[in-house]
Amino acid sequence: MVQELERLGALAIDATQGGVEFQGSFTLGYYVNLESRIASRVLLQLAKEAYHSEHDIYRIVFRLAWWEWFTVQQTIKVKVQAKRCPLASLDFVTLRIKDAVCDAFMKKKKARPHVDTHNPDIQIVGFLDERRVTVYLDTSGEPLFKRGWSQIRAEAPIRENLAAGLLRLAGWTEALPLLDPMCGGGTILIEAAHMAKRVAPGLGRRFAFQTFQGFDAQLWDNICRASVEKQQAAVSVSLFGSDRNEKVLRIAEMNCQTLGLSKMITLQHADVLTLDAPRKEGILLSNPPYGVRLGEYAELAEFYPQFGDVLKKKFFGWRAYIFTADRRVPKMIRLLPTRKVPLFNGDLECRLYEFKLVQGGHRKRRRSGVGTH
Ligand SMILES: C[S@@+](CC[C@H](N)C(=O)[O-])C[C@H]1O[C@@H](n2cnc3c(N)ncnc32)[C@H](O)[C@@H]1O
Repeated sequence: MVQELERLGALAIDATQGGVEFQGSFTLGYYVNLESRIASRVLLQLAKEAYHSEHDIYRIVFRLAWWEWFTVQQTIKVKVQAKRCPLASLDFVTLRIKDAVCDAFMKKKKARPHVDTHNPDIQIVGFLDERRVTVYLDTSGEPLFKRGWSQIRAEAPIRENLAAGLLRLAGWTEALPLLDPMCGGGTILIEAAHMAKRVAPGLGRRFAFQTFQGFDAQLWDNICRASVEKQQAAVSVSLFGSDRNEKVLRIAEMNCQTLGLSKMITLQHADVLTLDAPRKEGILLSNPPYGVRLGEYAELAEFYPQFGDVLKKKFFGWRAYIFTADRRVPKMIRLLPTRKVPLFNGDLECRLYEFKLVQGGHRKRRRSGVGTH
């Protein structure tokens, strides 16, 4: 995320827990929404101040010039998140923020916007820590993992921004072959193909900022046009996907076809346990089924040792990355992870395990206590 923002020209980039703060012009917000593969949403900070009570929060929100951002005809929703907030009720804080916005409009415009909690035009976000409240306008609207292209989704698909993040963490570049042997609808491979083709993830979708007052439609049009011109028509990449579920693989095929990626992604109906490495070296990246969402706990305990054997026997020279919520994986796969990165998939705490597969090496020794999981 930080690298993405640096590339886009953001200033004062500061990785915080659960997000990254940055500074820049409002136009930079257009670019980040359009180009970020990893962000879930881009929030515009309007205030950050100390509070002691709900009344302080009301006062801080009331003072803001909301009418400079949107009109009373637009519907609003207030979302409040908090960490170590001493106030008794976040619902009450939400209500006070909503009241403050409406009262500010009433005072200035003699009318107030309506609330729509399902499909609002404008989302106002309040974040409270133990001392300070930060007030944001959501510039994205629908979360950014909803790409500009529509994809038919297989069962338990991974979010597109998570897939992009995993590719980055795995150090995948288009020079490296990539295999997802349990590819489902193909999200990881499609994301990789679009990264290689420089297809901006937000092209063709709507963003909340397009409804803001002062939105520069001409500028936005130019930015989108320039982004399309940047796309690479012919890219030489080696992307391989397979799945043992034929129905799911058809979905991946359909997605590749619709998106014009069939020539870039080679798909095969196969069980990972019967696969051979398609190249001498490369990156294997997959999110196998895990107990909570797909497959059975016991079935997986049987699957992983066999999968580990396949990796050891057929994939030396490769780096394998397994993204899962199942903490038993390193033990079951009987390989020593060279890295593990904690990540969230929605609310589910997961790990990305890296296994460097070298001939005869890194095997997890049974009784030695060498394992690090
Ligand atoms: C969590 S889903 C992957 C979702 C995928 N990343 C996506 O975004 O659509 C896991 C996939 O592993 C496949 N699978 C499970 N066991 C398999 C095996 N032994 N060989 C190949 N595929 C397998 C399932 O059919 C399922 O599609």
